[in-house]
Amino acid sequence: MKYKNALVTGGAGFIGSNFIHYWLKKYPNINIFNLDALTYAGNLENLKDVENNEKYHFIQGDICDKKLVDKIIKENKIDLIVHFAAESHVDRSVLSSKDFVKTNVEGTMNLLDSALKNGKIRFHHVSTDEVFGHLSPNDKPFNEETPYDPRSPYSASKASSDHLVRAYYYTHQLPITISNCSNNYGPYQFPEKLIPLFITNLMEDKKVPVYGDGQNIRDWIHVDDHNRGVDLIIEKGEIGETYCLGGYNEKTNLEITNKILELLDKNQDFIEYVEDRKGHDKRYAIDFSKMKKELGWQPEIDFGEGLKKTVEWYQKNQNWWQKIKSGEYLEYYQKQYQ
Ligand code: NAD
Ligand code: DAU
Repeated sequence: MKYKNALVTGGAGFIGSNFIHYWLKKYPNINIFNLDALTYAGNLENLKDVENNEKYHFIQGDICDKKLVDKIIKENKIDLIVHFAAESHVDRSVLSSKDFVKTNVEGTMNLLDSALKNGKIRFHHVSTDEVFGHLSPNDKPFNEETPYDPRSPYSASKASSDHLVRAYYYTHQLPITISNCSNNYGPYQFPEKLIPLFITNLMEDKKVPVYGDGQNIRDWIHVDDHNRGVDLIIEKGEIGETYCLGGYNEKTNLEITNKILELLDKNQDFIEYVEDRKGHDKRYAIDFSKMKKELGWQPEIDFGEGLKKTVEWYQKNQNWWQKIKSGEYLEYYQKQYQ
């Protein structure tokens, strides 16, 4: 790895914390500076096992704070930014768009400005397949050429951030890459998202709320496969390019629900059909042939195996999610950082 000092934003969240674990093992010589605001979704417990690693440094702060971002970049000779920080939950964006525009658009712009000002720092932007809109059953999967058509405030804010990142490449020749990935699952995922919410509800003997008829489709990928792709793009991706990553693993929400019920030995009575999400995207699917052809990447973790291990992780780490679900976790951090 040619980079020495990486600024990872949003490293206390689900994908970012898995990324930091992966990188500290793979590149023991790189310094990682994790800038995270510790919103409701950020959790330092995700990184407890590495907090004493001399190569890992945590900074609590907001990516919208210009002075702070500049200071971190200058003081630590940052030569790479890996940008995960975002408001990430679609349902929350339906309730209010404000934080989504602030962090996802303004925060990204702020990081881009700092990267530009401090010597055109290499910038990798982590984005989502939701920027492409949604598919009907017979449509071809999304690829890098698919026109943008975001339909939720979350995906609209991520689409804006993608456009800004690309604009800094065309206008200022900032050395950027972008990845658009499908639905991730794995350890440390906040229990508001489908898979961890359903696993933990069932462990608490609670019902699982399936939106609408449960026939919406997502393309599921293990977080480690996603992060392996991000790593490859940083190392070998072509500057200015976008890469799509997916699991080649389309499943209806009801199929996912039934698999989780089976793994936890629960019957159909635990399903509760609830009101549909507003503007609920029907289907996502990714064609990752560019990643395969150019970087030799494809997902490796079998979904059945990955889901089983994920369920086991939530079974072994009940303390982690019970704190979050009981609200103790938020109180704890408010006290810590007052
Ligand atoms: P997450 O919600 O679990 O974590 C987001 C992290 O960003 C948290 O630690 C939070 O504290 C931090 N954060 C939020 N606002 C911040 C701010 N203003 N300043 C600094 N830190 C801030 O999200 P995730 O699921 O890990 O997603 C990470 C990235 O990957 C996001 O950009 C998301 O759009 C993208 N993505 C997610 C998925 C998925 O399935 N989860 C799929 C594709 C792409
Ligand atoms: O596609 C990538 C995106 O995947 C990421 O960019 C987002 O950050 C991430 O949150 C995820 O978005 P989704 O909206 O697809 O994920 P979520 O887990 O919220 O929902 C998955 C599907 O399950 C979706 O069709 C809605 C449905 N669902 C979700 C919840 C939380 C339910 O039926 N019941 C629920 O309680």
